[in-house]
Amino acid sequence: MQTPDRSSLLRELKNQLLYLKDAGYSEIPCETELFSKAASFESPQPTPAKIMTKSKKANQLNQVREELGDCTRCKLAQGRKNIVFGSGNPQADLVFVGEGPGADEDEQGFPFVGRAGKKLTEIIEKGMNLDREKDTYICNIVKCRPPGNRDPEKEEIEACNPFLVQQLKAIQPKVVVALGKPAASTLLGRSVPITKERGTWHDYEGFKLMLTLHPAYLLRAYTIENRKAVHDDMKKVLKALGR
Ligand code: URA
Repeated sequence: MQTPDRSSLLRELKNQLLYLKDAGYSEIPCETELFSKAASFESPQPTPAKIMTKSKKANQLNQVREELGDCTRCKLAQGRKNIVFGSGNPQADLVFVGEGPGADEDEQGFPFVGRAGKKLTEIIEKGMNLDREKDTYICNIVKCRPPGNRDPEKEEIEACNPFLVQQLKAIQPKVVVALGKPAASTLLGRSVPITKERGTWHDYEGFKLMLTLHPAYLLRAYTIENRKAVHDDMKKVLKALGR
């Protein structure tokens, strides 16, 4: 068997840690004696794992994830590698909702980890001065990758929507941000001309909803006008969050 290289091991480790964090763990399960015995070259005697604390919201979110299971409710299940449920802080006041996983997200099982993800992280961390993992939760309208990155179809969105609603009900954010036309149109149940309606407030299932441009669109049309638009939208979000 080939020994994995350092970067694959680090990626695996990061994914495992993010998985535990998403599951609501605030501490890493740690068999402390294992370390001290290893340090003194004695054979390790496993001890019970440290007790871990989980928030109520994280527990509820976990239940939603469990209910989703190894989902086969729509045909996207056939081509996916991983279900991309969501990531971030279950206690966050701010939730971003994107369209659906792309190739990188499908590979790694986490939302917005590719190029568009880097842009989104930049918007959150540089533009809004927030911490992506601590201050936000990020998910998509569909949790499996549409083949060839096509737009998700109506039945696929409908099959996934109850889980999005349950995620939001578990998190109870102050603000939800729809990223791009497919997310905005899905959440509002009508075709949204996103360049016209971005920057406007709406209601989604009782949550305050802001519409903005998708980071992938921003990368494609990287104009001063579009960057200013997203900046202005995020300023409104920060104000609504009391920041
Ligand atoms: N684009 C999305 O809409 N969602 C992702 O998770 C990644 C890219």
